[in-house]
Amino acid sequence: MTDRRLLLVNGPNLNLLGTRQPEIYGSTTLADIEHSVTELAAELGFDVRTVQSNHEGELIDAIHAARTDCAGIIINPGAYSHTSVAIPDALTAVERPVVEVHLSNIHRREAFRHHSYVSAVAEVVIAGAGPAGYEYAVRYLAGRVS
Ligand code: DQA
Repeated sequence: MTDRRLLLVNGPNLNLLGTRQPEIYGSTTLADIEHSVTELAAELGFDVRTVQSNHEGELIDAIHAARTDCAGIIINPGAYSHTSVAIPDALTAVERPVVEVHLSNIHRREAFRHHSYVSAVAEVVIAGAGPAGYEYAVRYLAGRVS
């Protein structure tokens, strides 16, 4: 079933969605996002493996695991977007299409958020659409890998 599974990766602090700076990130929880992504993917014929971690190495291990059984990767790397070289290296190594999602429009925020190392290895970058960005990512990958 390699071709019918997507990996959804959320990085540090995204476990706190719903209560974390709701004026920026909204009131939707990570559980809500994982649920809606899983539901939509199922409608489109895919299942989803979800992972959230506050630890860079755990995110990298989850990305590596996708190599054997996932057709595409949706990732919100959180603050690691702006600091990590290892995460884009892992994404490149697994050779799967990547959609990078940010709830907020990082380009309208502090200058240190304007650059993401992950964007250079993503096919698509979605920023500022809130939780809907994850659904756009599912629709893109479902079409892309079918
Ligand atoms: C974020 C934007 C990042 O700059 C921030 O560190 C996050 C969340 C977003 O979804 O808008 O943790 O990735």
